[in-house]
Amino acid sequence: MQLKKSVQDALNAQINNELAASYSYLEMAIWFEARTLPGFAAWFYAQSDEEKLHAQKFIDHVIKRDGEVKLSSIRAAGHSFQSVAGVIKTALAQEEAVSADILNLHALAAKEGDIGTRNLLEWFVTEQEEEEDTFRTLRDDLEAIGEDGWKLLEYDKRLTRPAPADTGAA
Ligand SMILES: [Fe+2]
Ligand SMILES: [Fe+2]
Repeated sequence: MQLKKSVQDALNAQINNELAASYSYLEMAIWFEARTLPGFAAWFYAQSDEEKLHAQKFIDHVIKRDGEVKLSSIRAAGHSFQSVAGVIKTALAQEEAVSADILNLHALAAKEGDIGTRNLLEWFVTEQEEEEDTFRTLRDDLEAIGEDGWKLLEYDKRLTRPAPADTGAA
């Protein structure tokens, strides 16, 4: 079944959303890199890579279904952060916004009777639940650390390992 125009347009918009999320995480990674927090930087670079894989997943789906991929410009988020906690708060809000996009897309695919697209989106619903959970954990950890610089450095060392739980998922 070829993609309906409405579904194709929404998928193309989501490709842009995922790439914008990737770009936004890249900004966050650079922010950490500039503040010599290499663990956080590595962790956010990994998040940025992961969002690019998400975009690719949608691209592959559109092509497989004989649709047309249309890329559009990605705007830089232009973040200006005051604190590590501020970055995490923004990242969590970003994931929550993407979750809402995915759920809207899922509703559209269901309305259009597009089961294949719905199946793909169900993978993304689970993925978003994991992503939100990961960022909430990070937020809670940072709340516990508070203003303690030494604890923050210790935490940064732990994050040099690959991001927990969700980085491997393509
Ligand atoms: Fe994503
Ligand atoms: Fe994400």
